Parts: sequence; structure tokens; C-alpha cells
Amino acid sequence: MRMQKSQVHISCLLAWFLFTGCVVTRAAETPVYRLDGGRSTYAFGVNERGELQTLYWGGRLGPNDQIPAAHSLPEWASFDSSHTNTPQEYAGWGGGYFTEPALKVTFADGNRDLVLHFVKATPGGSQSLEVLLKDVSREVYVTLHYSIDAETGILSRSASIENREKQAILLEQAAAAQWTLFPGRYTLNYLTGRWAGEWTLNQEPINGGARVIESRRGSTGHQANPWFAISRDSQKAGGPITADEEDGEVWFGALAWSGSWRFTIEQTQLDEVRVTGGFNPFDFSYKLNAGDHLETPVFYAGFSDHGLGGASRLLHRFELAHVLPHSPDPKPRPVIYNSWEATEFRVDEAGQMALAEKAASIGVDRFVMDDGWFGQRKDDHAGLGDWYVNPQKFPHGLKPLIEKVHSLGMDFGLWVEPEMVNPDSDLYRKHPDWVLNFPGRPRSEQRNQLVLNLARADVRDYVEGFLDKLLTENDIAFLKWDYNRNWSEPGWDQVPADEQRRVYVQFTRNLYSIFSELRKKHPKIEIESCSGGGGRVDLGILQFTDEVWPSDNTDPLDRLVMQDGFTYAYTPQVMMAWVTDSPHWLNGRSTSLTYRMLSSMQGSLGIGANLNHWTEEDFATAKRLISAYHEVQPTIVRGSLYRLVSPRNNSPFSSTETVSRDQSQAVVFGFVHGTQEGRGFPFLQLQGLNADSNYKLTWIEGKTLLPTPEVASGAWWMNHGLLLDLRGDFKAAAFRLDRQP
Ligand code: DGJ
Repeated sequence: MRMQKSQVHISCLLAWFLFTGCVVTRAAETPVYRLDGGRSTYAFGVNERGELQTLYWGGRLGPNDQIPAAHSLPEWASFDSSHTNTPQEYAGWGGGYFTEPALKVTFADGNRDLVLHFVKATPGGSQSLEVLLKDVSREVYVTLHYSIDAETGILSRSASIENREKQAILLEQAAAAQWTLFPGRYTLNYLTGRWAGEWTLNQEPINGGARVIESRRGSTGHQANPWFAISRDSQKAGGPITADEEDGEVWFGALAWSGSWRFTIEQTQLDEVRVTGGFNPFDFSYKLNAGDHLETPVFYAGFSDHGLGGASRLLHRFELAHVLPHSPDPKPRPVIYNSWEATEFRVDEAGQMALAEKAASIGVDRFVMDDGWFGQRKDDHAGLGDWYVNPQKFPHGLKPLIEKVHSLGMDFGLWVEPEMVNPDSDLYRKHPDWVLNFPGRPRSEQRNQLVLNLARADVRDYVEGFLDKLLTENDIAFLKWDYNRNWSEPGWDQVPADEQRRVYVQFTRNLYSIFSELRKKHPKIEIESCSGGGGRVDLGILQFTDEVWPSDNTDPLDRLVMQDGFTYAYTPQVMMAWVTDSPHWLNGRSTSLTYRMLSSMQGSLGIGANLNHWTEEDFATAKRLISAYHEVQPTIVRGSLYRLVSPRNNSPFSSTETVSRDQSQAVVFGFVHGTQEGRGFPFLQLQGLNADSNYKLTWIEGKTLLPTPEVASGAWWMNHGLLLDLRGDFKAAAFRLDRQP
């Protein structure tokens, strides 16, 4: 963080405002704060009213450039006040502010006006800063936390809201941060979906008014994901053309929160674009008693001058280096086998052991037993909540299976769904009050289950307790942590009526604290966040979980499109991708094992097929490709991803390339989904290689259509490129390039 002028206390500002009134003097006296990282600069200052005003966010400025001091923007006729026109870093609702506020408060006396002014800034080294704001008359303080990553330029922002009034106040809206882009034409990119159809990338022009993307479901949700990217539309001749995959300016952000959330993307009447994001204000209120404070989640955001591809590469790098549990160096995920699609609930000792033997024979690293092993779980009607090993299915407990898995050279993982309960369970019979509910009202079941109210301390302790016991008594390396419904009737009658809505914060905080305690007590444990597929994927949960399950839909073609969408926001390191059976259970589509394997090899590979039905040839194919995958996995999951050909918009082709950070290796995948009218696969010009180094091509699968050199320079692969021999339906190819000494 750099400050151009010495820090000015609010009293100085007020004195200056009262006694000068001269614009030139103001410019000299108000402080400007500047954060530089990667290829971007972020700056804000204090304007003459004392508001914290956004000054700049974009490509990196010169080290000696002076950013002009903040001045509020003028009133636009009498209808749009200067307060509403001036972009603030964190605006309270009050003082004639009409656009989306960051914070909205009701005081005990009915006052609902909140105007936040600058008090002081405290630098925390060159990369971070804390700014204290205070209401103009009431004892409500907001500390804004800023830090910037030196490598990627990604900013982390959050707010801490403190009530120093003598009486409680009610927060009705509390954002983590607000971001402002200066007037222009922009395109919004965001991810939506549904069960078995997650990760659709939507792109639409930003017009006047507000666009809301959100979850009201208590958790992140399948419907929309807390990520956005806003690309600038070129106004040059032939335009407007929005920034594309590799060119143009893009501002992007992701919220680290696994509860209900909301982004409001708003074009103001002066054509600025403001993004406000944090706790979802819908059905929200948070009572802050005197002396209490509320921390918001962290809202990460960055800037790319290399289009959406550049934006996602920055995010991937940041997630690996700063978000994931083992950052900065999370190890590539083990290749797993999971029994769900093979057996569903019909798990038992002999059946799992037989699958484990087969999985080990193809080079799998981790064997995971899915749903069905506990309580009286025969199907989805019973058992959730009763976390004892089912004695009929596993008469000797889990130990014999775990030992067998270990003897085969794999580690062992287990499915759990800790936050849920079936009404048909001993737990519910004992504690019917433990679920989210409004007393005397119906309790809506989904998948025959109810949601335990994790905001309650006793429920939180129960969940942590049974998981701790499970992990202490069994040598378990991995938990697949599932969550198969959204909230309904989110009542919490244990606390007073005006505090019940704290459930939206406390539930998720307690979830995070369970993860955190378990990881402390069992430092080797690894966890997957699964929510009936990709219903709980966000940068909040990824601080505690090593991987996520993007979708229950494992069809390899659908997955190519979903993987494309997923990687705009999240690194392939966390993107678990299983190879399952053909024809696929969801759509009846038949595909070859090679096609399915290559589709899954774009992420962190897993096998979820029924190995009891595989032929000798299937085992040989899988063994060969798992071995090839192991060799290049670090590049695929940690490298720089280039989407060479997008599978979106019903494209018959798709291709990705990943280049290792040191440019020593590239891995390329190509897929044709259905050749039409004899059209050939597009010529592939690779990216991100060192033009002057020589690279040797090795096929993992497939060949080129035209003669191609075995060794050629990076310049050759990037400029001349190559033509894959890919024709027909559901065909795939993959190769690697290795830099030659
Ligand atoms: C939903 C998950 O997404 C599936 O992979 C599987 O674990 C089932 N739940 C088990 O009930």
C-alpha cells in the first residue's frame, strides 16, 4: 500500500472543509491510498465530505504516477444526489444514496440513516491496509480490510461492523465489499445451473438497472455461483465487441461464503458499474448488541488485461497459492475410485473389497466408499444422523475393509452427510428440535431429509464429535462431505425472535469451525465439498476442503461443457472428474472408455464406473491412461489453462491446453462431439510456450491429420500449430509437449 499524502484524521478533514472550500487546496490535502500487485493498481481516497471514494481500478500505473485526489461527483439535476453519483468504497444507506448500499441499519430509536465517513487508515505493510469509517453521528464503526496479492494483483476485501452504541442495532444488509468500474459499456459473465446441469457461463450486456445473482437457499447453491467477470466492450470501429478469451480488459471477483449470498451488478445513471456483494439481504437481519461486531466474508477481486482466459489463470494461481488448505503448494489429488455409481446404497464388506482389488489393479491411489455404510441406511429414506457402522453390512466394522484397501496400496475415504437427518433415524427420534423449523409449522422434507440447525451449539458439537470419533477410530484419509438439500423453514426457536435470522451467518460459521477443528485434530485428513454435485463450491468452503464435486452429471460430453464453465472460476486442481459407465444413466449416451477417460483427465481424475462389468480391454485402457495421467497431472492441475476451442454454444469441437508454470511442459486435449458436413477439427495454435525452446511431442492418444514434426520450437507450435485427426462422434485426442534440454 502506498499513500501519496500523509494520513489525514477526520477532524483535519472537517476543519479543512469548513475553512477552505478551495478545490486546489483539497487536492493537495486529501490522502490517496494505492495498492499495486501483479499487473494492476487499485486506488481510493477521501473526498471533501469525508467519504471513501473509489479512484482507480485497472492496469498497473507507473510507480511515480500521482493519482488525483478524490472529489465527489456533482449532483445530476435535483434527482440524483452527489452522494449517489459518487462511487464509495463502502456506502451506508442514508444521506440521499439510491444505489445499492453496502450497509443498511435500523437503530433502536427508529433512525435508519447511516452515512459513513473516513476516520483513519492503518497500513499493514506494502500489501495491506485497514480503513476505519464511522457514521457521522452514531457510534457505528466499520473497518474495511484490504490486501493485494503481489503476484496476481487479486485484492481481498472484507468489512468488520461494530456497534459502540449503548443499545442494539439491527443490520439489514451487510456487504463484504463494493467495486466500481468507471463509465463505459460492459458485458457481464456469470455462472448459473441446476442439479446435473451446473456451470453454464452466461454473457450479457450490462444495461441500466440492476442485475441480481444470488442464493436464498442457505448454502451456495447450484442455481448461481458467487463469481462474476465483467469485460469491457470496445467502442472502436466495428464494436461494441466485448473482451474475449485472450484479449481485452476484464474485472472479476468471487465471494468466500458458503451461505446465502447476493451480488447486485448495477449500472448507475452515470453509466458506472457497481458490484455489491456479501450476505444475501433477503430474509436477513443481524442484531448487533452493544459492543458486538460482525465480520463479513472476504470478497476477492482482480483485473486481467488478457481477457477471460487471463482472469481465470490469475484466479487459479491465487486459489492454489492462498486459498486451499495446503496452499501455497497443495499436492495433486490422488486418483480415486468411488463406488457410488456401481453400488449406490448396496455397499457391504465383500462387495467393496472386490471393487478395491479391481481399482488397485489400474493404478488408483484412493478408494472411497460412498453412501450406505451407516445406521439403517438401505436407501435415502432412513439413517442420516446415525453415524454408526451398519452391523449387517460390515459385521466387523470398517477396519477389515480399510486394512484391505491399505494392503492394496491405496488410502481409504468415506462418504458422510453430517448436516442432515432423516426423520427415520434414532437421532431425530431423540432430538426432533435439532432441525431448522418454525414450531407448529410443517417441516418440508427433500430427499426424505431435514437440515440440522448447525447454528445451535449443541448440534455443532454433536457433528464435530461424531466426525472426530470416526476419524480417531478409523484410518480414514478422506471425507466426501455431502449436502443434499437446501433450507426450508429456517427457524431457530432456541434464541429470541429478533436474533433468529443470525442463522444465516452462524450456520456457515459453525460449519467452517467444524472443518477447522477436524483439520487441527486430524492434520492428514482431506475433504471434498459435495452438494448433490456442485451445490456448494465457493472460495469460502475451499479454505477448508481440498476438492469439490462439480456435478452429479458424469456424462463425458456434458462434463466438457461444465468443466469449461467451472474453470472460469475455479482451478482444475479441485475439479473432481470421474469416469463412469456407458451408456450414461442420465441421458443414455454411449461413449468409448477412451473418450470418457480423456474428458475426466482435464481435471482431477477419478473412476466411478462399475468395475465388475469391465472387460480385460477396459482394464488395460484405464491402466495405460491413468499411468499417462499421473505423469502429466501436475501440469494439468497447476498449470496455466488456455481454452483453445470452446465447447459452448453447441460447438462440435473443444480443446484445452495447459502449460506448466516453468513452461517446460504442455498438455493438450481435443474432442469432437459429432462431425457434421465433413467439417474437420480446427487448426490448433498453441499458447503460453517459450517461443525459443524446442518441445517434443508425445501422444497420449490419437494422431495428427498432416505430417507434424516430433520436435519443433515453441514458436512453431504457437504460430504454425497442428491439425488433429479427429472425426466421427465422441472422439478424443491428447498429447504432451516436453521442453528439450
Ligand atoms: C449426492 C452425491 O453428489 C453423489 O455423488 C452421491 O454421493 C450421493 N449423494 C449419495 O447419496
